[in-house]
Amino acid sequence: MTEPFPVIAKTLSGLEEALVTELHELGIKAELLHRAVSFTGTNEILYRANYCSRLAVRFLKFITSFEVSKQQDLYDQINSIAWEEFITENQSFAIDAVINQSVFTNTLFVAQKAKDAIADRFRTIYGKRPSVDLEHPDLRINIHMQKEQCTVSLDSSGYSLHKRGYRKRTWEAPISEVLAAGLIRLSGWDQQTPLYDPMCGSGTIPMEAAMLASATPAGYFRQEFGFVKWRDFDPDLWERIKTEANALIRPVTVPIRGADNARQAIHAAKINIRKTHLGPDVDIQVANFHATKPPFEVGIMIMNPPYDERIQLDDGIAFYRSLGDTLKHLYSGWEAWIISSDLKALKFFGLKPSLKIPLFNGPLECRFVKFDLYTGAREEDRRSKTL
Ligand SMILES: C[S@@+](CC[C@H](N)C(=O)[O-])C[C@H]1O[C@@H](n2cnc3c(N)ncnc32)[C@H](O)[C@@H]1O
Repeated sequence: MTEPFPVIAKTLSGLEEALVTELHELGIKAELLHRAVSFTGTNEILYRANYCSRLAVRFLKFITSFEVSKQQDLYDQINSIAWEEFITENQSFAIDAVINQSVFTNTLFVAQKAKDAIADRFRTIYGKRPSVDLEHPDLRINIHMQKEQCTVSLDSSGYSLHKRGYRKRTWEAPISEVLAAGLIRLSGWDQQTPLYDPMCGSGTIPMEAAMLASATPAGYFRQEFGFVKWRDFDPDLWERIKTEANALIRPVTVPIRGADNARQAIHAAKINIRKTHLGPDVDIQVANFHATKPPFEVGIMIMNPPYDERIQLDDGIAFYRSLGDTLKHLYSGWEAWIISSDLKALKFFGLKPSLKIPLFNGPLECRFVKFDLYTGAREEDRRSKTL
């Protein structure tokens, strides 16, 4: 049993509260930070969080924090950490540096300085230094500079947790798996109402929905986690965590459908989903949103249409106006959620959103907007209540 240690879970801007709730469901009490949450963990908690969290991008194990006012301070402080407790001189490491309003302005410089400090420590003690491996290091170190405060952590995830391992093929502008899971969570989907993504591209939203509905752990298809290479790695504990989480996997009983008008997108989606045990649970079709009837009488729609950024549109306003028209004419009774960074075009939807949630899709500031598409009767009922 390890001593408890502080953990920082990084996530996407806008998903922090949802991550606190998700971790709470995993038995972890976390506090809100910006694009991150923090909690106290043990190896057991760290392994479980890495395997089960759909909304975290990475989990960092805190090592130390200190003030830095000049370059030499950074070198000296990093050099004084007992790195030999974490790796041997025959292993490899990589450094990720993040800078925020810092005395340093160049992340590469910070990473280089820290690398030298670690290498020099090993050379002095053992006459040999660990190598740097940026792709598959034995230890990934995170250095976060916030003004003069430097925090040093170990990246227990290794590489970003959005890389779930099931998305072998992608199509244009695929959404991050963490963001897709976040949209599903923010929509409040009850896992009983049929779910439809009519512009599913490579199938990320339907696949994340199926993983959630089947309680398939987020890390089920993933090959690597950073902590498995750590010196204190406990393989029996890791096997137990996976076995316990996998035992909860259940059949999907709710209809989940994805569609896209690009044949190649659907080809990619089918390859991604059908290679997993969830293949039979997700129905994927080539379909033009405007020329197809809704797949269910009522349901919840989560849509990630082109934003006129990575996928260029001839006329963004006309495109979004037509989306609104199709929703109005064909989808009464549905709840529709749309994420887009095209804030101007979203205004031409012709429908009043009942909720707007600010989010980021990579560097793009987005809104995740909800439209309640009342049936005539419900609309009349609503109007008469407000009169
Ligand atoms: C931003 S991408 C969606 C990416 C997807 N979420 C993923 O993770 O791969 C937008 C998708 O909308 C599709 N699309 C655009 N117009 C469409 C239409 N009228 N009907 C169906 N799909 C459409 C495009 O082919 C593209 O795959």
